[in-house]
Parts: sequence; structure tokens; C-alpha cells
Amino acid sequence: MRLDKLLADMQIGTRNEVKRYIRQGNVTVNGSCRVQPKQQVNPMEQEICCFGKPLTYQKYVYYMFHKPGGCVTARKDQKYKTVMDYIPKSHSGLSPVGRLDLDTEGLLLITNDGALSHNLLSPAKHVKKIYEVRIDGIVTEEDAALFAVGVEIGDSTKTKPAKLIIKKSAPVSEVEITITEGRYHQIKRMFQAVGKEVVYLKRIGMGNLKLDETLSPGAYRELTAQEVALLKEQGETYV
Ligand code: URA
Repeated sequence: MRLDKLLADMQIGTRNEVKRYIRQGNVTVNGSCRVQPKQQVNPMEQEICCFGKPLTYQKYVYYMFHKPGGCVTARKDQKYKTVMDYIPKSHSGLSPVGRLDLDTEGLLLITNDGALSHNLLSPAKHVKKIYEVRIDGIVTEEDAALFAVGVEIGDSTKTKPAKLIIKKSAPVSEVEITITEGRYHQIKRMFQAVGKEVVYLKRIGMGNLKLDETLSPGAYRELTAQEVALLKEQGETYV
């Protein structure tokens, strides 16, 4: 890729700033500062230094995003802010892993690692998704028993077994639910199937990854190497 694009993608500066650094001789490629912004470089094979410091280029990047309500899980939208509006454009090919509804909050992974994303979303992998839910209605152990064997939500097949933990059973109930699928509006439709309405939904876990509660809604951070390793191990996890 172009040297100036690489440096801007790596957030060394804006495109204009990095062009200036290059022209001022502050950027070297394999030790030479006789380089041009438009020069094609390969960060995997060449040593690129900026102000004397070697750059460590990461091919893949993994962002944990705390999605706020009111933004859509898409790359572009005519009407709403998208989740991508919150994330630095550090790498091309960044996409959210799966979708959360407009009003759903919580953990959303955003990466350019297509293979990992594909694995995490593959129905065959049964990756756990854990949600905190507030329900308009009294949630009972009968609901938990129904969810444990699967419910009809208007699709050709029942939902896969889901684990429901009732934290508060009251006119407005609080529960935690773990599912291993990602059907459209799945949690809302599961509760509709037992005559109740979801009034608040927040994803708190995906696979081995837990939402970092120090991230406020709208904030993101890169995953740690350990979190990435845990996610990559993912794939054979069942409820
Ligand atoms: N289930 C839903 O109904 N909505 C979401 O955003 C995620 C799961």
C-alpha cells in the first residue's frame, strides 16, 4: 500500500501530516529517507521507521465496542449514526461481527479478521451470546423451562436451547439469557412467544469475551492479546 496511507491508517497523523513527515525525512524505509508519500511499501517485509522508531504493523485489529442505543450495526446509514462512526478508520475491511438492534446496547466486536468473524458467526459453532434483559411482565421458571427446550418464534424451526437465569421476577423482570444462535430479533421474539415484551437489552458476552464494564456506551478499546487468543479458541462452546 502507499506509504502515506499506511502511516495515516496507523494513526501516525492525518494524511497531510504524514506527507509532511515523509518529505521532511522523518520516515525511513529500510534505512533510506529518500522516500515519497505515494511509494508502495509492504510493512510485513520492509522496516519502516518514523522519527527513528520502527513501526509494528498489525495486519488485523480487534476492537471491543460498547454499542450505545440509537445507532445501527451497519457500515452506512441514511438516517442513523452507525457503529462504524465510533471506531477509528485504522484498517480497511473493518466490520462488526454480527448485529445488534438499533435499541440494543452492549458488546460488539469490530474487526478486519474475516476468518475469525466467520467462525464466530457460523451457526455450526454454537458461540454463546449472553444478554442482560429487562422484561415488561413476570418472568417465571416455566418460561425458563420452555427456553431450555426451544420455543416457536415463527421460523421453520424452534430456537436452540437457551439458558435463562431469573434475577428478578416482578411486573418488570430482570433476567440473563444465553443463546447460541443469532436469529433476527431473536431475544425479543422469544419473549413475545411467552407473552412478554423486552424493554431493555444489553449484550454482555460473546464466546469467551466479556464486555469491559469500564467502557461507557460509545467507547471502544482494542482487545488484549489474551482476549484475541481466547476468541480464536472459540468454536466448540455449548450452553
Ligand atoms: N436479540 C434481539 O432481539 N435483538 C438484538 O439486538 C440481539 C438479540
